[in-house]
Amino acid sequence: MKNHSPWWIRIPLVFFLIFGLMEYFVDSGDKPAFIEHPITLIFMGVVLFLLVGIELIIKSVENVMFQTLSPEAQERYLETSSKQWEWKWAKKLREDMIGEKAVAEEGEIILDHNYDGIRELDNDLPPWWVYLFYASIVFAVVYLARYHVFNGENQDMEYERAVAEAQLEIENYKKTAKGLVDANTVELLTDASDIKAGEALYTANCVACHMADGGGGIGPNLTDEYWILGGGIKNVFHTISEGGRAGKGMVAWKQILKPAEMAQVASYILEELEGTTPANPKDAEGEVWVESK
Ligand code: HEC
Repeated sequence: MKNHSPWWIRIPLVFFLIFGLMEYFVDSGDKPAFIEHPITLIFMGVVLFLLVGIELIIKSVENVMFQTLSPEAQERYLETSSKQWEWKWAKKLREDMIGEKAVAEEGEIILDHNYDGIRELDNDLPPWWVYLFYASIVFAVVYLARYHVFNGENQDMEYERAVAEAQLEIENYKKTAKGLVDANTVELLTDASDIKAGEALYTANCVACHMADGGGGIGPNLTDEYWILGGGIKNVFHTISEGGRAGKGMVAWKQILKPAEMAQVASYILEELEGTTPANPKDAEGEVWVESK
């Protein structure tokens, strides 16, 4: 009788092999395939069912064959099959892979030369090493074909793709989480709804000092290209959020407005007021702001 592994090794081994292959090939993003696609659970259930079924068939075939044996052969079979699983294969594999000559056989491979009593064995390369070497050649061929002939995705491309994906995610995230902006992340809003909201906020909070058309009064003119505290969305947001110079009258609006609202009113100023000609413009203050890209 052949010395093979018992069912409780075979079934899990094959099951997890197929499971691993499935996880590898089913595209499920960062999550395990069986979470992302519950149908794979059904698939693995069928696999398990088949594995058990095959084992049962093997068992019954063995039983039938057992009946046909002579009584002595049956006895011998029972004896060997009871010690089937003794890691014999593992021991044999280890020996095969190391490929050593037994000490008693060393005479066959000892070399002729003799340096002051030091002699040398002409051992073969250990098979495990040789197989690794062959495997690396196969790997190299596959690698060459995949990355240099068929232009597979290399690390650079993978990186670019990951960055592009991440950027897309950030964009989507920002759309749903406008409230998270600060002076460093704020961007000019151009949606009509944002500008409208900004206008309403401006009318409610800012006209007293900056005038409805932005021409300025207590506060500076917001329509010209001169800015005391810096122009551009980030500076304007910062000024609104943190206030102007001490004692000038421009408070830190972050106490009153939400970040999203400050982004809206800042965008309103830059989109709708800047560049227009107000009825009563206040003289330019500060310096011409040039957006440095
Ligand atoms: C009480 C009066 C007052 C109110 C109300 C006011 N501001 Fe001001 N604002 C000022 C003054 C004064 C300055 C100049 C600050 C300085 O010189 O440091 C200023 C400066 C600014 C600046 C910077 C201008 C520059 O040239 O750098 C912006 C932008 C601005 N205000 C936006 C707003 C917005 C938006 C609101 C409403 C949410 C608002 N302000 C409400 C008085 C006011």
